[in-house]
Amino acid sequence: MEGSLIWILVVHILVIAYQGEVGASDRIQKNFQYNPKQPHRTAYHFQPSKNWMNDPNGPMYYKGIYHLFYQYNPYAAVWGNITWGHAVSHNLIDWIDLEHAIEPTEPYDINGCWSGSATILPGGNPVILYTGADFKNRQVQNLAEPKNPSDPYLKEWIKAKNNPLMTPINGIDPQFFRDPTTAWQGPDKRWRVVVGSQIDGHGTALLYRSKDFVTWTKSEKPLHFSNKTKMWECPDFYPVIVSRRNGLDTSVHSKNSKHVLKASFNDQDYYIIGTYNPETDKFIPDVDFMESYLKLRYDYGIFYASKTFYDSAKRRRILWGWVTEGDDKLDDIKKGWSGLQSIPRSIVLDKNGKQLTQWPIKEIERLRRKEVNLQNKGIKGGTAFEITGITASQADVEVSFHLPNLHDAELIHPEKVDPKILCSEKNASTKGVIGPFGLMVLASKNLTERTAVFFRVFKSHDDKYAVLMCSHQTRSSLRKVVNKSSFGAFVDVDPKENISLRSLIDHSIVESFGGGGKTCITSRVYPELAVGQEAHLYVFNYGTKSVTISNLHGWSMGRAKIFPAHGKKMFPTPN
Ligand SMILES: *[C@@H]1O[C@H](CO)[C@@H](O)[C@H](O)[C@H]1NC(C)=O
Ligand SMILES: *[C@@H]1O[C@H](CO)[C@@H](O)[C@H](O)[C@H]1NC(C)=O
Ligand SMILES: *[C@@H]1O[C@H](CO)[C@@H](O)[C@H](O)[C@H]1NC(C)=O
Ligand SMILES: *[C@@H]1O[C@H](CO)[C@@H](O)[C@H](O)[C@H]1NC(C)=O
Ligand SMILES: *[C@@H]1O[C@H](CO)[C@@H](O)[C@H](O)[C@H]1NC(C)=O
Ligand SMILES: *[C@@H]1O[C@H](CO)[C@@H](O)[C@H](O)[C@H]1NC(C)=O
Repeated sequence: MEGSLIWILVVHILVIAYQGEVGASDRIQKNFQYNPKQPHRTAYHFQPSKNWMNDPNGPMYYKGIYHLFYQYNPYAAVWGNITWGHAVSHNLIDWIDLEHAIEPTEPYDINGCWSGSATILPGGNPVILYTGADFKNRQVQNLAEPKNPSDPYLKEWIKAKNNPLMTPINGIDPQFFRDPTTAWQGPDKRWRVVVGSQIDGHGTALLYRSKDFVTWTKSEKPLHFSNKTKMWECPDFYPVIVSRRNGLDTSVHSKNSKHVLKASFNDQDYYIIGTYNPETDKFIPDVDFMESYLKLRYDYGIFYASKTFYDSAKRRRILWGWVTEGDDKLDDIKKGWSGLQSIPRSIVLDKNGKQLTQWPIKEIERLRRKEVNLQNKGIKGGTAFEITGITASQADVEVSFHLPNLHDAELIHPEKVDPKILCSEKNASTKGVIGPFGLMVLASKNLTERTAVFFRVFKSHDDKYAVLMCSHQTRSSLRKVVNKSSFGAFVDVDPKENISLRSLIDHSIVESFGGGGKTCITSRVYPELAVGQEAHLYVFNYGTKSVTISNLHGWSMGRAKIFPAHGKKMFPTPN
């Protein structure tokens, strides 16, 4: 008894101390996350207190702390004056936003400190390579190092005196030379790094090598290029391991590993999987960019300029992506902010070896609160029902559908249709045979506003099935200026087994994972009616055949603790 009384006192004092700490910035903190005056701010996604944010940069795990840097405009809710924001966390969910890590101050980055990556050197110290927009607005690559590596928060960064380390010479276009990757070491102990470029109009991953991380030499041959794409932004290159759930550190190479090359173009993050030989630096893709009708992407919705890192604490590879606004620019300015980071996802090679699968990191489950459950519930064709009892505007929903009857599925040729177009033509209200079935999220009570995340099952010409996943936003908001275009992609699952869907709903973002994370679609929505307590959640089936909800689990989600640091450091308890 006494023990717990003392403990309560200690907690009380800590809470008072904590409030004192944040007290001065109370006003900022109140507006930091979702609140009735800012109904489209999120409650558990990372966003700074105000202004513009884009690409995630240099994510890493260092001395027990996760670091996220991000492209940030300290002055406005539009792109410009790009600086590296910096936030730290014990659990990838609760964040403290620190002072800027890298600011445009030198001739080689005076017009912006653009995207880059962190590399943990063999002694354990981290370094950052980033792109500077120099005094002539040329793109160059620079190095920054921690001022005090014994500080786990890595608050201060020093730019190397030899900067810039890579400049656009020998035919490299100074406007197309950016976003260095995490470096990896070959068997010859030399470092390799890839920089995004466009050569003769073709997206290219330029390869550089270095013995000391300071003097870099461009390889004759790029790591890879594609004449079916233009400029590659934010390339990423990393190993994945066949038939294992854990991730690999970037320099690891083993008999069972394959390599992933990701490039950002056409507003999407595309990837290919292939074989990399670290002796010759040859990368041979299994299927090249834009070669297969699948055109593999991390996410088929709004998700760009992503970056992965290896989390050595939990031996996994984690993916972060920038989720931009679909709102009018003037509204961004009015709201005072623009841009979110996705929920970090752990990313692995699928069992089939042909694609990646993603899943929200386990830590997000600590925010699950009130729960609702359903088992084995049939939904007749043409019906919908509401899931009540959880906060529908701030939720995590996992559902699995069983399709007892696949006869009479409509026919399509998946390689001849564009799934995105198919999803906008065959929207949630267009009846089908098997589907559309799925969730209506951020819906108003009478469904005037709703975002539909759903599946349709088709038979393809060779008697196989094609499962289409859609996110349909046409009715997501009464507001006219909002971008309500729909998204769609196929999910490589067998509909004779159950089809799963998980949606993370957070006021103005819906991140959906189909088929256990084989196909992901993120959308931004800005409801007017379906906000806060007025948001509802429905399950529907507008096909003619009935489907069964094998399982449904839904949770209200708590808020993440995200706040700016003011002076002294104060962190959420590690867990
Ligand atoms: C960049 O910063 C300057 C102040 O340093 C400001 O005048 C200008 O409006 C800013 N530009 C943008 C696009 O935020
Ligand atoms: C594109 O590159 C491929 C090989 O990489 C080559 O076979 C093809 O001719 C090229 N096409 C064009 C239009 O350059
Ligand atoms: C769905 O599509 C049908 C026909 O293509 C169209 O008439 C209807 O307005 C669409 N509904 C929505 C909600 O987009
Ligand atoms: C749905 O509710 C909204 C707000 O209460 C109202 O404006 C609208 O007319 C309703 N629509 C229908 C079809 O009942
Ligand atoms: C709306 O968003 C889609 C998908 O991100 C994009 O392709 C389209 O260009 C956008 N439309 C407008 C008018 O911005
Ligand atoms: C699929 O759904 C059916 C019907 O609800 C259920 O009996 C079965 O256990 C489910 N299978 C799996 C693998 O979850």
